[in-house]
Amino acid sequence: MNTSDTILVIGACGQIGSELTLELRNRYKNVIASDLKEPEGELKDSGQFERLDVLNKNQLAEIISKNNVTQVYHLAAILSATGEKNPELAWRVNMKGLRNVLDVCTESDVKKLFWPSTIAVFGPTTPRTNTPQWTVMEPNTIYGISKQAGERWCDYYWQKKKLDVRSVRYPGLISYKTPGGGGTTDYAIDIYFEAKKHGKFTSFLAENTRLPMMYMPDAIRATIELMEAPIEKVKVRSSYNISAVSFSPKEIAASIRKFIPEFEISYAPDFRQKIAENWPESIDDSVAQKDWGWKPEYDMDAMTKDMLEHVPGEVEVH
Ligand code: NAD
Ligand code: SER
Repeated sequence: MNTSDTILVIGACGQIGSELTLELRNRYKNVIASDLKEPEGELKDSGQFERLDVLNKNQLAEIISKNNVTQVYHLAAILSATGEKNPELAWRVNMKGLRNVLDVCTESDVKKLFWPSTIAVFGPTTPRTNTPQWTVMEPNTIYGISKQAGERWCDYYWQKKKLDVRSVRYPGLISYKTPGGGGTTDYAIDIYFEAKKHGKFTSFLAENTRLPMMYMPDAIRATIELMEAPIEKVKVRSSYNISAVSFSPKEIAASIRKFIPEFEISYAPDFRQKIAENWPESIDDSVAQKDWGWKPEYDMDAMTKDMLEHVPGEVEVH
C-alpha cells in the first residue's frame, strides 16, 4: 500500500461511502470525498469534499486532474427498490456514471479503480443456493441489469485498456451509521432500529425469504483488502462473489430475541418481495477466498449484538 496515493471516493455520503471514506482516511493521507449531497458530521470535518455529479464528465475530469488523483472508489448508484420506481434514472446513473468514471480514469493518472457490483446481478434462472462465481445470470431488475452490464464494462477496460479495476458483489449490507439507500435488503437495517425503539417491526419481506447479507465492518475490510491485494492475485475483473451470512426475516427476528426476548415481528410483503425472490439465498465465495484470502468475521448473532449496542432506543437489551 502506498499511503501517498490520492484517493477520490464518489458517492461518499451514502451508506457505504460514509464509513469507507473514514477508514481510508485512517490509512491514507489524501482522501477526497465527493457526492451530489453535502457531507455531515465526522465525514465533513475529517477532510476535503468536492460536490460532484458523476454524470458530468468534465467536472469529474477536472476534480481528478486538479487533485492528481491516483485511485478512485466509485460508489454512486441507484439501488434496487428505488431503481424499480425510476428505471430511467437508475440506468443513467449506474451506466453513464460508470462509463464516465472508466473513461476519465483511463485518460488520467488514475492507477486503480474500485466499483461495487451486487447479488442483484443474479436472477430467476440462477441456482439460488450457494450461487457460484460463474453461473447463469439473467437479472430482472434495472439495478441488476445495469450492474451486470457494468461488470462486463469493467472486465472490458481491464482487457483492452489495462485499467486496474477491482470489484466485489456485495450482499445486503447492514450498518447503523448512515441509513440504507433504497435497497431490497434495507429491512435488515430497519429491523434493528425498530426493535430498539418500539420492540416490534413489520417486515416488507415475507418470513422465509432468505438473502445473503454482510455486516458493514466486513464489507469495508473486503473492499480495502481487495484494493490492497497484489495485482497478480486479482484474477477476476468482472466482480468477485463475497459472502458472510444468510438469513430470513424470521431468522433475524430470532437472533434479536436472544437480546430482546419480547421482540415481535409481523409481515406485510410489498413490491420488494418479488425482487428478493429472484436473488440468491446464499453465495459461494470460494474464488475470492482462494485468490486474495477473503474471510468474513461477523456471524448473525455477533452482528445483532453490535447493532443493538449502537442503534438508539429505550428498549432494554439483555
Ligand atoms: P447509497 O444510496 O447509500 O449511496 C449512494 C451515494 O451516491 C449517495 O450519497 C448519493 O447521494 C450518491 N449519488 C447518487 N447519484 C449521484 C450522482 N449522479 N453523482 C454523485 N453522487 C451520486 O448506496 P450505498 O448503499 O452506499 O451503495 C454504494 C454502492 O454499493 C452502490 O454502487 C451499490 O450498488 C453498491 N451496493 C450496495 C449494497 C448495500 O447493501 N448497501 C449492496 C450491494 C451493492
Ligand atoms: N442491497 C442492495 C439492494 O437491495 C443489493 O445490491 O439493492
